[in-house]
Amino acid sequence: MSVAQSDNTRKVTTHRLIEMKKRGEKISMLTAYDYSMASIIDQAGMDVILVGDSASNVMAGNVTTLPMTLDQMIYHGQSVTNAVKRALVVVDLPFGTYQGNSKQALASAIRVMKESHAEAIKLEGGAEIRESMERILSAGIPVMGHLGLTPQSINKFGTYTVRAKEEAEAQKLIEDAHLLEEIGCFAIVIEKIPASLAGQIASELTIPIIGIGAGGYVDGQVLVMHDMLGINKGFSPRFLRRYANLHEEITRAVQNYIEDIKTGDFPNEKEQY
Ligand code: KIV
Repeated sequence: MSVAQSDNTRKVTTHRLIEMKKRGEKISMLTAYDYSMASIIDQAGMDVILVGDSASNVMAGNVTTLPMTLDQMIYHGQSVTNAVKRALVVVDLPFGTYQGNSKQALASAIRVMKESHAEAIKLEGGAEIRESMERILSAGIPVMGHLGLTPQSINKFGTYTVRAKEEAEAQKLIEDAHLLEEIGCFAIVIEKIPASLAGQIASELTIPIIGIGAGGYVDGQVLVMHDMLGINKGFSPRFLRRYANLHEEITRAVQNYIEDIKTGDFPNEKEQY
């Protein structure tokens, strides 16, 4: 078996992601929330599967990620880990389950790890949640950071526009990224900031920077599965590349099915007992 083949089946770990960055190998990451899609995505060779709290938007139809509960994230996490053999599975800690105090944060992280069987968790924020992150890390739980546009703070930002265009916010983001590396996070998602700033951070840090709307000078990319598969028609930010148009394909298939039932074409002789 060649190295490339064995790498395609070897389990992805947090350490392996750091090795990939050292080698200059880009990291692929995509969200998933259920068994069937996670199984397809894992078998296609994805490096990291994120059980994102974007489940709130794309699975539950909420306007923001804020309503997501710990029980709901654990349910989605379990569904995904039941399917995944190779990818590293990361589960988001939802809003309100880690910001209160570090004891609450650790209890939330332990529940996710025990009940969902994920291999890491992701938290949004920098210095302001340092204590929570350190307590979780000291329990041996791998933590992925999330900086830039952090959707759980949408009510503070007021809009989903590009973050850190101003010098002061860019400076805080750089400091937060260094802090997350120092305390032991294994990677950081950076969302919707200028590409040059994201590239600067990726070049200063040894842990991988995974971008979403953060340009190409980072160590990997993440997208929300429903967006990149074109299931979601109403969301078209500049950073999104659609790799399929499942909204149209599914609509066509469902309409054909309805038509076949109405006309009596389905089921035919061969499709009955
Ligand atoms: O919840 C999510 O899907 C995320 C990605 C946008 C990175 O955090």
